Amino acid sequence: MRTLVDAALLAAIDAVAVEEKLLPREPSRALVEAIREVSDSYNALGRDPRARRPSPHSSAGRSARLQFFLPRDVGKSYEAARDLLARIPAGAKLRAVDVGAGLGASALGLALLLRDERPDVRLALTLIDDDVAALRVAAQLFRALFPEDGIALSTRADGVYAFEGRGEVDLVLASNVLCELERGVEPLLRADKIAALVHRWLRGLAPGGHVLLIEPALKATARALQSLRARMLAAGFHVVAPCTHEKGCPLLVDEGDWCHEDRAVALPSALIPIARAAGLHFEGLTFAYALLCREGLPQRSPRARVVAPPREAKGKRGLTLCHAGDDATVGSSTTYERLDRHRGASHEAWLGAERGSVLRFEPWPEAGRLDADVRIELEDPGE
Ligand SMILES: C[S@@+](CC[C@H](N)C(=O)[O-])C[C@H]1O[C@@H](n2cnc3c(N)ncnc32)[C@H](O)[C@@H]1O
Repeated sequence: MRTLVDAALLAAIDAVAVEEKLLPREPSRALVEAIREVSDSYNALGRDPRARRPSPHSSAGRSARLQFFLPRDVGKSYEAARDLLARIPAGAKLRAVDVGAGLGASALGLALLLRDERPDVRLALTLIDDDVAALRVAAQLFRALFPEDGIALSTRADGVYAFEGRGEVDLVLASNVLCELERGVEPLLRADKIAALVHRWLRGLAPGGHVLLIEPALKATARALQSLRARMLAAGFHVVAPCTHEKGCPLLVDEGDWCHEDRAVALPSALIPIARAAGLHFEGLTFAYALLCREGLPQRSPRARVVAPPREAKGKRGLTLCHAGDDATVGSSTTYERLDRHRGASHEAWLGAERGSVLRFEPWPEAGRLDADVRIELEDPGE
C-alpha cells in the first residue's frame, strides 16, 4: 500500500492546529469523539435521504476534519485528478475553482499532484465555501505548504450556486459536496437541481476545460453520480474518466451495484492510532468520481477498466472489466479469467492490473476467458 501524505503536510496541519487553537493529532477522547461524530454525519448523507447537510462545524468538528479527514481526503483528488494530467498543455496556467472547498483537502490534493507530476503547470486556485472558518484554515495550509509565488490562491465566502464560470475557468472541482446539496428535497427534483448546477459549470468552462466531481463511495452517493453522468452525456457533454466508454453505466442496471474506487492507499502511520480508536479503516482509499468535459474526446482503441477487486483463484486470475461491449446503449461489465500458465508481457500486465487500472487488448477478447494470443497492455495512470 502506498501512502500519499508527506511529512510537510502533517507539519502544516500541526502549525495550523496551534494557530487556530484546535485539538492536536493524538487519539484523545475529545478528538476521537469528534471524528466519530463527523463520520456519522457524512455517512448519514448516503444512508438517509432526510439527513441534512452537516451544519458548520464546531471547533471540535473542525479539529476532526483537520487532523483526520483532511489528510485522508487529500488522496482522493490526488488520485482522481491523475486522469486530467495528460490533458493539460505543457507549461499551461490552470485556472481552477474548488467549489465547497472546506478546509482545502480537495484543492491540496490537486496542488500536490501537480507539484509532483506536472511542475510545469502554474496553478491559479479559487476556493469557494460558505464556511468562513474552514476557508481560513485552507488558506493557512496553502501558505504553509506552497511558496508565495508557487500558487495564486484566493478564497471566496459564498454559496456553491453563486459561482458561475464565464469561459475563464479551466477546472471546476467539487469534492464531497454534491451529496450535501438540496438535502430534504424530493429525490427527482433534487437530482434535477444538482444536474442543472453541474450543467452550468460545464457550460461556463474555458475551451478545453473540465469538471471533476468526487463523491463518497457509498451506494446512494455513487449511484447518484452515475445517474448525473448519464444526464450530462445526454446533454451533449463528455466523460473522460473513470469510464472507458460513453454508453450507459452497466453498474446502474442492477440496484445492488455501484461503481467506486478502492485504491491501495494507506493512511500515514501518524493517523493509524486515531483511526483505530475511532473504529475507522486506515487501509484503502474509497471514493467515486467523474471527470467531465465539453468537447468531444479523440477516437481511441477500445479500453476496459477494472471495476471490482481482482479474483485470485488456484491457477488463474479474474478481473471484472467495464467496457463498451456490444449493446447499443449500455456498456458491459464482464469478468475475464486468465490462466497462470501464460507467460510474457501480456501476462505481466494482467497480473499488474488492480481495481481502477485501464487495460487495452489486441484483438478484443470474445468473452470470459483470455487466450494466450490476446495482447494485453496496462495503461499508465493519466495516459
Ligand atoms: C465534506 S466538505 C468537502 C470539503 C472538500 N471539498 C473535500 O473534499 O474535503 C463539504 C463542504 O461543502 C460546503 N458546502 C456544502 N453546501 C454548500 C453550499 N450550499 N454553499 C457553499 N458551500 C457548501 C461545506 O461548508 C463543506 O465545507
